[in-house]
Amino acid sequence: MIPFYIETYGCQMNVSDSEVVTRILTDNGYRPCSRMEDARLLFVNTCSIRENAEKRVMNRLDHFGRLKKKDPLLKVGVLGCMATRLKEQLLNHPAVDWVVGPDSYRYLPGMLDSRAAAPVRVQLSLSETYADIKPYREKEPGVTSFVTIMRGCDNMCAYCIVPYVRGRERSRDPESIEAEVKSLLQEGFREVTLLGQNVNSYRWESGLVTFAGLLDRVARISPLLRIRYTTSHPKDMQDDVLHVMARYPNICKHIHLPVQSGSNAVLDKMNRKYTREEYITKMKKLKEAVPGISITTDFIVAFPSETEEEFNDTISLVHEIQFDGAFTFIFSPRAGTPAASYPNTLTPAEKKDRLQRLNQVVNHYSLLGNKRFEGQIVEVLVEGFSKTKPDVLTGYTPHNKLVNFVGDESLIGTIVKVKIEKAFSWHLRGVLV
Ligand code: SAH
Ligand code: SF4
Ligand code: F3S
Repeated sequence: MIPFYIETYGCQMNVSDSEVVTRILTDNGYRPCSRMEDARLLFVNTCSIRENAEKRVMNRLDHFGRLKKKDPLLKVGVLGCMATRLKEQLLNHPAVDWVVGPDSYRYLPGMLDSRAAAPVRVQLSLSETYADIKPYREKEPGVTSFVTIMRGCDNMCAYCIVPYVRGRERSRDPESIEAEVKSLLQEGFREVTLLGQNVNSYRWESGLVTFAGLLDRVARISPLLRIRYTTSHPKDMQDDVLHVMARYPNICKHIHLPVQSGSNAVLDKMNRKYTREEYITKMKKLKEAVPGISITTDFIVAFPSETEEEFNDTISLVHEIQFDGAFTFIFSPRAGTPAASYPNTLTPAEKKDRLQRLNQVVNHYSLLGNKRFEGQIVEVLVEGFSKTKPDVLTGYTPHNKLVNFVGDESLIGTIVKVKIEKAFSWHLRGVLV
């Protein structure tokens, strides 16, 4: 059996897709290996979201090219979003043997087996969801897992490459989702995260099953199974989802709701289809329906021609909402998206300065958001040992707070009570109760 290794970049969708690819390959006589050095086939599952993400992959391909010089039998395949974006162009790189896009993974075994098969396959599909393929999870039995419920995105935010590289939005049938979650529970998993670029627009059978309906069905499977979901789009976040969240104690008290900007003018240029005021109103409803809910978000700074005043609207939104955390990015033009051709007069120094100023405010509130747990007893699902300190266990609370505490191996995969002693910006430290 030929050993292969997959290196994964980008979002959770890619992590989940790498598990699908691993299953497809293992079903066809290939063997996954945990060390790259042991592999005959190297795959890199790629991300196109920002220029930096692509640069990182190109550097890896350069490295693989050097490895191939020493070992001419080694072969390399590019998977994921860059495969769709760059297509045949990628074959110009001396390291690359195959280019396979996110909807073409079923063709992989045939492409690897036959010299006659074309080395590039990147067509997007209107229906592929890999519903019948059981993702191959590296750690089985593991503690937490992703379950993909939909693919693609129809939103066309002006800056975003995802709709072009992942194709049209399509939902996976609820029966196969439920069956996968049930089997994960039986295997010993204790938490699942329902995944999609925009889970709130999940629709099956012309809306007979909505995201709220699906969430309800999944939450009912077992009170012992924690449920999370990501990502939500503010324009599609409906009240019915809040009610389901409020009803089930096993749905985690956290939502990631990317806002991108606090300025209505910028939101309009971004084609986000909601206003600052609408976002704030949704947040209020959320906090009422699910008291204490933890809220995280994404921001893009220096969107083309963002003025100082517009940027300050973003800062004031952070003060107003007091997010528990945020991922912050400098706008990166992606060829082919509308925003790539908008004039952008900001200098690199100005862009960096805005990012730093935003991060300062964001960090202030994430520390504050963590401090509210000091002295409290929280429930932690123990995922494993800390990478840096061997006797320290780590896990997450329902509010998605990372907690470190001293404990032994037998606790991994269980929910334990931990008293929080000290809060930091990125994690909490506590003791086992
Ligand atoms: N589907 C999700 C996440 C998409 S990508 C959503 O809509 O929320 C994750 C984040 O990357 C986005 O929320 C956005 O903040 C950021 N992002 C996307 N395109 C970008 C670009 N061209 N430049 C900088 N950041 C970008
Ligand atoms: Fe990109 Fe917008 Fe779709 Fe998110 S919702 S993936 S930001 S186009
Ligand atoms: Fe990147 Fe593709 Fe995800 S562009 S963020 S890996 S959908």
